[in-house]
Amino acid sequence: MTAAPAEPPDDAELVEVGAGDLPELVALEFEGFLGHERWSEASWRAEVCRDNQCAFGLRVDGRLVGAALVSAWAPDAELLRIIVAHAHRRRHFAARLLDAATAWATSRGATRMLLEVRDDNLGALALYQRGGFVRMSERRNYYGPHATALVLVHTLEPGVTGAPGDATRKDTP
Ligand SMILES: CC(C)(COP(=O)(O)OP(=O)(O)OC[C@H]1O[C@@H](n2cnc3c(N)ncnc32)[C@H](O)[C@@H]1OP(=O)(O)O)[C@@H](O)C(=O)NCCC(=O)NCCS
Repeated sequence: MTAAPAEPPDDAELVEVGAGDLPELVALEFEGFLGHERWSEASWRAEVCRDNQCAFGLRVDGRLVGAALVSAWAPDAELLRIIVAHAHRRRHFAARLLDAATAWATSRGATRMLLEVRDDNLGALALYQRGGFVRMSERRNYYGPHATALVLVHTLEPGVTGAPGDATRKDTP
């Protein structure tokens, strides 16, 4: 990341999440996205089980309050999801998840991270701008009529590798 590192909230534990966390991931999905943009439990199940993808979560008092899903097909990585529960927003939780996703992608040999974001999602756009993402292209009507997706890209720093030290893999059932 090129921006100043996020202040890590000291009450949140960074973990890897998997199929065993599906109910909490789906609950976060409902908090974060509206109807037609929501992923189903089946979608999340498929996504967290792919070999080239990793899902990170933040837990506060054991409860999952944020999650991010990233894929890596070197040289490209893609941030596929990032969500923080309403009650925990603006605490740099998403920035921390983005850092974890970036470190993981870099460790997989990715040299750039791509993502799509609605052009009216100003909070997410501010998060990504702060994280060093810049606009690459746009896809008109991608999310529906008049709902444009911006494609953003961030060049990854080769020296930043490895998953964060406090990430722990969650066993999947
Ligand atoms: C977008 C989202 C993940 C941000 O989560 P968050 O934990 O609140 O973000 P952070 O606290 O890490 O924000 C880091 C920085 O990003 C910017 N930012 C984040 N949300 C912002 C908002 N709503 N308005 C303005 N700036 C915002 C700020 O610069 C912030 O730093 P600051 O608080 O010191 O000013 C969260 O709002 C969310 O879950 N939204 C619904 C799901 C979604 O839209 N996901 C992205 C899809 S592409």
